Amino acid sequence: MSSEHWWQNAVVYQVYVRSFADSDGDGVGDLAGIRSRLDHLVELGIDAVWLNPCYPSPQFDHGYDVADYFGIHAEYGDLAAFDELLAAARDRGIKIMMDLVPNHCSSQHRWFVDALAAAPGSRERARFYFRDGRPDGAGDAHGAPPNNWSAAFGGSAWTRPSADDSQWYLGTFTPHQPDFDHTNPDVQAMFAEVFEFWFDRGVEGFRVDAISPVGKHPELPDAPPVPEGTGMLQVTWENPYTVFRPEGHDVWRQFRATIDTYMDAHPDRDLTMVAEAYMNGRPDLMAAFVNDEQFHQAFAFDLLLSPWDKTEMERAIGDTLDLMDAGSTPTWTLNNHDVQRVVTRLGRDNATDPSTVTNNALESVATSVDIAVGLRRARAMITLAMAMPGSIYLYMGEELGLPEVLDMPDDRRQDPVFITTNGERLGRDGCRVPLPWTDDPSTNFGFSASPDASEPWLPQPEWWGEVAVDVVDQQDDATLDLYRELIAARRELAVPEGLGAMVLDLGDGLVAVRRGKLIAVTNVTATPIALDSDHDEGIADAMPVFASEPDELHTPGVIPPDSTIWFSTP
Ligand code: NOJ
Repeated sequence: MSSEHWWQNAVVYQVYVRSFADSDGDGVGDLAGIRSRLDHLVELGIDAVWLNPCYPSPQFDHGYDVADYFGIHAEYGDLAAFDELLAAARDRGIKIMMDLVPNHCSSQHRWFVDALAAAPGSRERARFYFRDGRPDGAGDAHGAPPNNWSAAFGGSAWTRPSADDSQWYLGTFTPHQPDFDHTNPDVQAMFAEVFEFWFDRGVEGFRVDAISPVGKHPELPDAPPVPEGTGMLQVTWENPYTVFRPEGHDVWRQFRATIDTYMDAHPDRDLTMVAEAYMNGRPDLMAAFVNDEQFHQAFAFDLLLSPWDKTEMERAIGDTLDLMDAGSTPTWTLNNHDVQRVVTRLGRDNATDPSTVTNNALESVATSVDIAVGLRRARAMITLAMAMPGSIYLYMGEELGLPEVLDMPDDRRQDPVFITTNGERLGRDGCRVPLPWTDDPSTNFGFSASPDASEPWLPQPEWWGEVAVDVVDQQDDATLDLYRELIAARRELAVPEGLGAMVLDLGDGLVAVRRGKLIAVTNVTATPIALDSDHDEGIADAMPVFASEPDELHTPGVIPPDSTIWFSTP
């Protein structure tokens, strides 16, 4: 793979459409709202925007339940609004990527509605996984699900449409999200059309949702018992008959062939497809999915899940850099709409515990959080990530240093994770709160265009104005400034250093990466560390060229606590 693709070193900004900006005052973000705020993204210096799903959807899983792959959700606008957004972004040099959801659709998708009305064995049912139930031991010959698989968001993965139906259908996530059978020719043909439809409109790539459960063991056997202590929402991901199956590769090869054929016919386009799957600690899997026949890139979630710990961070970075051997560039990210925001994660009192799995959105563990410490570590972590080769995916609001909103009232939470677990798991609403743009509460802190707007779909905390774009824009040491300067510095000082990088061991408490002449050093402890001249790679005498805490006086050869410094070595 050559190094000329735009996406290889791109900074991509994730917009959670419902929560970015509301142009029409209904309390829900929309496409015209995004268009009205594009200048913020230009000032940041990003290359592309990834839009979370904006297709028509009942919004049970906020767009990850697609009712029609060829339209726009009415609350967000219409195809004309989409085209306008794309054109306005293009005028500013920003590319648009979309989100493709292949594993499942909405139970309101026309095909699924037809399948429910059709008989077992019909063409309509063959597009999904409908199977006869098993005897329930109480006289109903079909009263028990076809197998013992669990759903990712709780409960059984099978739903029986009615007591009269002999069949059940599979929904890996929730009953509102029935799984497609990708061996079915109708399904294959539809997804090829989906790619062409959006590429024709000017979309430059797709983030592909939930790739791990696509492709199942053809016989759908019972899953073996899970290891003791497996969390309730982890059971699905332990099922060898539905996770990372060899059958999935056929699907990705078809998708890639569709993209390659499109590019052959449109040689001016450089399209990409990025896999979403939690393959942390499994670089072997990355290599199996990311290659010239399947995905161009896959999210590297290792750093997003890593505790603030030297060994774990070095492992996360090393595993991800190994991806280079698979011919791709890594795709770094610290935040997204499914995980607790990094400021909160790294401010938790267990953040330095090497055994911590930091995706707290799906856990119920309550720990105390020091936001100031978390913010400092988050700034250091992004400064380290930005030095490295590969693309960076930012999640809206991280440039403001937003923490997770933890104190949301239960009766306002909407995430199916919270609902299906009866609140046992907090879910992901806390990172999806509509963005603060100003300190004016009458406009939902600038999220809505007018003062008579409805309440935002998720409540904003009272203190939201303190972290608003307009407010932090006036502060010299704000995280917003750091992000703007960091993206510019990355382009100027890191990208020209090429695609090779390696982890360096500079001693206790320090995580370091060399990329050409640039060395980024992070101190993951609470005390300053003086570099040891025996193995400092000449950094003690090198020029510091960027720091995650730029206002702190830099003592040569010393890395301040919880911070990152870039050095340019001779
Ligand atoms: C991953 C998405 O990021 C998440 O938000 C969604 O709930 C699941 N896939 C199911 O589509």
